[in-house]
Amino acid sequence: MPDQTRTTRRGLLGYAGAGGLGLATGAIAATQLETPASAGPQPTVPGTISPFGTHQPGVTAPTPRANRIVALDVHDDLDAAALGRLMRLWSGSIAAATQGRPAPGDTARDLAQGNVDLSVVVGWGYALFDKVGLADARPPALVRIPAFDHDRLQQRWSGGDLMVMVGAADDTTVTHTLRRLLLDAEPFATLRWEQDGSWRGLDSHQAPTTGRNLFGQVDGTGNLLPDDPLFDATVWTKTPDWFAGGTTMVVRRISMDLDTWDTLTRAEQEASVGRDLDVGAPLTGAAERDLPDFDATEDGRPVIASDAHMRLSHPQQNGGRRILRRGLNYTTYDPETGGRDSGLVFCSFQADLGDQFVPIQRRLDRGDALNEWTTAIGSAEFAILPGFAEDGWLGDTLLT
Ligand code: HEM
Repeated sequence: MPDQTRTTRRGLLGYAGAGGLGLATGAIAATQLETPASAGPQPTVPGTISPFGTHQPGVTAPTPRANRIVALDVHDDLDAAALGRLMRLWSGSIAAATQGRPAPGDTARDLAQGNVDLSVVVGWGYALFDKVGLADARPPALVRIPAFDHDRLQQRWSGGDLMVMVGAADDTTVTHTLRRLLLDAEPFATLRWEQDGSWRGLDSHQAPTTGRNLFGQVDGTGNLLPDDPLFDATVWTKTPDWFAGGTTMVVRRISMDLDTWDTLTRAEQEASVGRDLDVGAPLTGAAERDLPDFDATEDGRPVIASDAHMRLSHPQQNGGRRILRRGLNYTTYDPETGGRDSGLVFCSFQADLGDQFVPIQRRLDRGDALNEWTTAIGSAEFAILPGFAEDGWLGDTLLT
């Protein structure tokens, strides 16, 4: 997804040359010198994503390579004033870290790193509003995700009062930033779960690309771009007043059975989604961005199968409902069982969780061909706070 918030040095490099900017990385300099400006997409160079604005910028930033999401449970005695103190602390740390400065109190100051596309997204869980006496302020757009037939949810990957998602082009920066934020939170909350996931959103020439999940599928094509006229209504929540510019977030840990998937033919794999594996084109088209033709038939059968994932999740089949998805690939190894588990930390953002994610998910739960190889093992939902101004802090529209 093109980036609206990032201060990228990519354009500058085109004419100033890497040397002019004093870049230390020889690899980048060499690429720039060898690639004429007219030779197609230019390599993306990580920059600084401003932490300030109407929205938390990490929601719409392109999915970075390294990502970690944590949920915390607040201590029993936390009230709205204490929640405000934590939000102030976090806002200060986020403002510093994303701009490459050590967060207040940082004892490992050398790990503060600029120009790594660092972003942080903070959210509040459903029950938090009750716990701090703010039930009346809970945005109606945040509902609890209902149970689905195919779910096999585990508590260790589900729920939470607070959510922090940290992403960057560099995992060391993600690890350090998250540690600082968790230290800030120690007097207020304890860690409930932590999930990490990677994404390859840049191709071998460092040009933006959609990226692939661990089934090998191109994943994210159907997402709206931020300049699409439908984008704002799809993603940003308007009410209540204090929440204008916020959104809702779903985090589902979806285990993918790679071993049984591997036994399918390529044609069977492609039929389950309705797109080819080569470039992610719909089976009725040739290029990734070609529009699907759900009416096309061959030998009397629909070319895009009636249970294909992309048919059932497409806005046309869901009364125009859309979501903004972000997938993160995960793999874990459990030394006690010797078992490995791989899948997708499926995240989605939507203005109204109950009216967008839930009906689409219900339809997929009933009929999606992919259900044979995918199982949700974790589920959580959060209200993603509006962004904050340079002289403000997260949640200041409610807590001041
Ligand atoms: C491990 C689980 C999943 C896998 C492997 C997966 C994979 C894919 C793939 C390959 C596509 C086609 C390319 C694209 O448009 O991105 C797609 C599209 C889509 N998926 Fe999933 N998906 C998963 C879970 C979900 C869930 C849980 C939902 C929501 C409830 C969902 C909603 C959608 C939507 C809305 C589209 C775009 C449809 C369109 O506009 O054409 N997916 N998914």
